[in-house]
Amino acid sequence: MPAVGRFRVCEPGQTPLGEALAEVMLLPSVLATMLRSLIEAWPQQIYTQPLVTTRFLGRRTTYVCSPGQIRSLMVDQADALEREPFMLRALAPALGAGVLTADGPHWREQRRTAVPMFRPDRVRSFVPAMARAAEATRARWRGDTPPDGTRDILREMMRTTFDVIVATMVSGDDQLEVEPFGRAMDAYLGQTSWKIALEMLHAPAWVPHPGARAGAAAARYLRAEVGRTIARRRARAEPGADLLGLLLEARDPETGQPLADASIIDNLLTFVAAGHETTALALAWTFRVLAEHPEVERRVLAEMAALDADLVADPEAADRLPYTRQVLLEVMRLYPPAPLIVRRAKAPVRLGDMTVPAGQSIHVPVYALHRHALLWDRPDLFDPDRFAPDRAAARDRYAYLPFGAGPRVCIGMSLALTECLVILATLLPAFRFVPEAAEMPRAQFRVTLRPEGGLRMKVVPRHVH
Ligand code: HEM
Repeated sequence: MPAVGRFRVCEPGQTPLGEALAEVMLLPSVLATMLRSLIEAWPQQIYTQPLVTTRFLGRRTTYVCSPGQIRSLMVDQADALEREPFMLRALAPALGAGVLTADGPHWREQRRTAVPMFRPDRVRSFVPAMARAAEATRARWRGDTPPDGTRDILREMMRTTFDVIVATMVSGDDQLEVEPFGRAMDAYLGQTSWKIALEMLHAPAWVPHPGARAGAAAARYLRAEVGRTIARRRARAEPGADLLGLLLEARDPETGQPLADASIIDNLLTFVAAGHETTALALAWTFRVLAEHPEVERRVLAEMAALDADLVADPEAADRLPYTRQVLLEVMRLYPPAPLIVRRAKAPVRLGDMTVPAGQSIHVPVYALHRHALLWDRPDLFDPDRFAPDRAAARDRYAYLPFGAGPRVCIGMSLALTECLVILATLLPAFRFVPEAAEMPRAQFRVTLRPEGGLRMKVVPRHVH
């Protein structure tokens, strides 16, 4: 079999053009593995060395796992970076050029305009809507027969976080078809792995792949549906205090210009796409990990019992769950919902002794960084006390990147953390979660990090023993 695709691994300080130290895979197996789960195609060295360069079909990618160099890359040299073409191929048909996919001045303008919508006071104003969505899930689980039925917790969390995003973005619009909208978003995101794989193979955009037609139809439907929602909102007298209202009223702080309609569509869809599945994954993995660690769950429940607050009436209560927050952060270390951050150099980028030329890919493999042998003591061990304030303060900030870093750090970070705490505090005291399968599911790269085969758990009301 010809060795057409192979990985080269560089020691720190060595040029990527130097001797190949390891050749780990041949093309057919790499491709099959990439499609199954990209992280399984990563060479093992990515977990033990600060810099690794791979070569695949003539294309070089440098993986950065040293906190110092991540800082240098994502903060100091951020202007030398641009979006990866494979990310654009996967996302742009639905999300256009919103704040996640745009680059340069168009990105800066949108980011500046959107940032105030995600400030802590705004996030707090969304807590009642988050609590109501979580309560609706709780009521559904209590009301359904049988009361201790087995459910796919990831699907359930997707539904709950989708309800949150709808309530916080387009509240009070009873004409928005929530169910078909959610299904279209899933259909769209579900086929993006193919687009990534095809871009890596240099295949032109017209090359067909499974789910392509459904994905294209979903993108058209999503954009049209958001367009109609905007038109309905414009027809109302007041813009509303939700994200759509804020987008309609937003003015660029420097130019004073409002956002164009296409830009509002791009960004509403971006917030739905970037915000609901990632948050659902953080929650689903948390329920599954807690089922493995009853002693941690007991501490979390004790903290929630002591809180004794109604989150609808007291939105600040979620700030008083420090241990639960540590648990969430540790779950996102082991299972980062966004497991890979990708960039392309648009100008030469310095990384220690080596220079990555313009045009090459530079990736931060967050999943590997969070389990890196040089950065974490017993990396595979679940230990929420790693995030106790003194231990967290002693660690390099760039060793832990569930929300990225630098100017393109996740804009929804505090919204997502608050939302997770509110949903956990509503559901965990009410139900026990008993996994159907004894083994932890494999983590699978699907742009996000999904539990392979879903996450089926028995949801048992706590008062039924
Ligand atoms: C646990 C939940 C979440 C995780 C793990 C997460 C993770 C991330 C990461 C790693 C990035 C940086 C990507 C990069 O540098 O290429 C990012 C960017 C982004 N996230 Fe999140 N996110 C979450 C929730 C949300 C929510 C709730 C929203 C909005 C409602 C959101 C909106 C965005 C946007 C718009 C960007 C692009 C920012 C930019 O490029 O300027 N995210 N997110």
